[in-house]
Amino acid sequence: MSERTFILVKPDGVARGLVGAVLDRAERKGLSLKALELLSVPEEVAAEHYAEHRDRPFYGELLGFITSGPVVAAVLEGPRAVTAFRQLAGATDPVEKAASGTIRGDFALETQANLVHGSDSAESAQREIALWFPDLSTT
Ligand code: TYD
Ligand code: MG
Repeated sequence: MSERTFILVKPDGVARGLVGAVLDRAERKGLSLKALELLSVPEEVAAEHYAEHRDRPFYGELLGFITSGPVVAAVLEGPRAVTAFRQLAGATDPVEKAASGTIRGDFALETQANLVHGSDSAESAQREIALWFPDLSTT
């Protein structure tokens, strides 16, 4: 049983030249690329992507950050892809929570600039893939 997940290399990861490192870890884990794009995030896409955090105090800064420079958006596929990529990414706080050996644990120092996004459930993945890659066939 294969599933799909949506990931981002955030502006900090693109600016630091870590796109290859992120994709390398995902591909070595066994996840396959189904879509890949470098883009500047439209304000509406950023707001919709992070809609669940609308009422959080960090929401405004989060939108400012995610639209601050180009990101790499991708769809990855494989068995338990959602959980697999979340494990590769590590916990949200890259210093106090993310384990070493994870992308955030190894490469990031700030909670906002924590390098990557990965869908947190199959439902989130469906919603995010439809938002970022509306032309991607689901078959
Ligand atoms: P969240 O969905 O909780 O984390 P994750 O990316 O691990 O799914 O939060 C979304 C992003 O918002 C997170 O990657 C970094 C940012 N953020 C902050 O800047 N401050 C915070 O206190 C939290 C919880 C998140
Ligand atoms: Mg999240």
